[in-house]
Amino acid sequence: MELLSATLARVKPSPTIAVTTKAAELKAAGRDIIGLGAGEPDFDTPQNIKDAAVAAIAAGKTKYTAVDGIAELKQAICAKLKRDNGLDYTPAQVSVGTGGKQILYNALMATMNPGEEVVIPAPYWVSYPDMVLLAGGTPVIATATLEDDFKLTPAALEAAITPKTKWFIFNSPSNPTGAGYSREELKGLTDVLLRHPHVWVMSDDMYEHLAYDGFEFCTPAEVEPQLYDRTLTVNGVSKAYAMTGWRIGYAAGPEKLIGAMRKIQSQSTSNPCTISQWAAVEALNGTQDYIAPNNEMFVRRRNLVVEMLNEIDGVICPTPEGAFYVYPSIAGLIGKTSAAGTKITDDETFAAALLEETGVAVVFGAAFGLSPNFRVSYATTDKALKEACTRIQSFCAGLT
Ligand SMILES: Cc1ncc(COP(=O)(O)O)c(C=O)c1O
Repeated sequence: MELLSATLARVKPSPTIAVTTKAAELKAAGRDIIGLGAGEPDFDTPQNIKDAAVAAIAAGKTKYTAVDGIAELKQAICAKLKRDNGLDYTPAQVSVGTGGKQILYNALMATMNPGEEVVIPAPYWVSYPDMVLLAGGTPVIATATLEDDFKLTPAALEAAITPKTKWFIFNSPSNPTGAGYSREELKGLTDVLLRHPHVWVMSDDMYEHLAYDGFEFCTPAEVEPQLYDRTLTVNGVSKAYAMTGWRIGYAAGPEKLIGAMRKIQSQSTSNPCTISQWAAVEALNGTQDYIAPNNEMFVRRRNLVVEMLNEIDGVICPTPEGAFYVYPSIAGLIGKTSAAGTKITDDETFAAALLEETGVAVVFGAAFGLSPNFRVSYATTDKALKEACTRIQSFCAGLT
């Protein structure tokens, strides 16, 4: 009998984690590597949050908790959703999991049946299609082009929906493009969804607080209250609070769905880390004062990277509204040959040659479902970004 499951054969490992691992290996081997692959802020978790965790340990809050979160955290989440998003939820409508990733996974595992489809806008976060496959469903990719600033048009959404569509996954600001939908742009999509009452909405709001130049974040259940009863609003503390390692994510939605997700969690991880939950209470209830200065730093870095990449002939780099990624097109470089003799046939060969010849690690666009592009994470120092962009510039200048 075959050891590995048939389901597993449909799934690939995370390419973003693969790039980070490869860059770390090369660095360990003594190479001068600049990693622009990381999906996490480069600054430390704020002190008040760390202190809350230490206090939780000292107070003996170190045992199992309720499966989908302590009451204090659920209260803090309800308060946050009201304060930031104008959304009313009760604690029974809230689920806390081991990162936003587990929350999304629980929701898909709890709802997908074979043959059912999930509409995913491309460029997408790498895990969505594979999670859908793991849950037994079929991903349906709806492409958002560079010309549309990587934002899905209502027509493209309409065309992707079939009678088998169970979910539409929405992510703004986006990983990998940083694109953020305005209220009007989102309304265009929610109008389409209103015409298809069988489609549920999974809104991944993970980068909500990382929004720049006055961009106003909005989320489907708030923009179109008629969708409230079939929307799962997903968020977490990983990105805005620099808490990626603490592994706390959450969602709010209809009680029936939250209960189903609880069942999955009860048979997999039992509950998210107790200490991290107490830290997350402080993240949500405590001061939010460090978010604005962090965002100022991110804007400066974004502008630096966008400017330097746009100086390259054959590269087009739009200026995104949020997150800490840019997603330049390299359409103008395909078919050229690098100084070391590598033919650039697609974005994967581009990223491999760039790493090999200059030591700069980026993630190729095919991993996110739109080519030829690459993703730069600018969650690193200005110095590293300047050096990396200078190397990318000279690598591209050397293409013939
Ligand atoms: C769009 C998006 N959603 C969800 C997640 C998962 O976040 P977490 O670290 O909380 O699991 C990430 C992390 O990279 C992400 O980029």
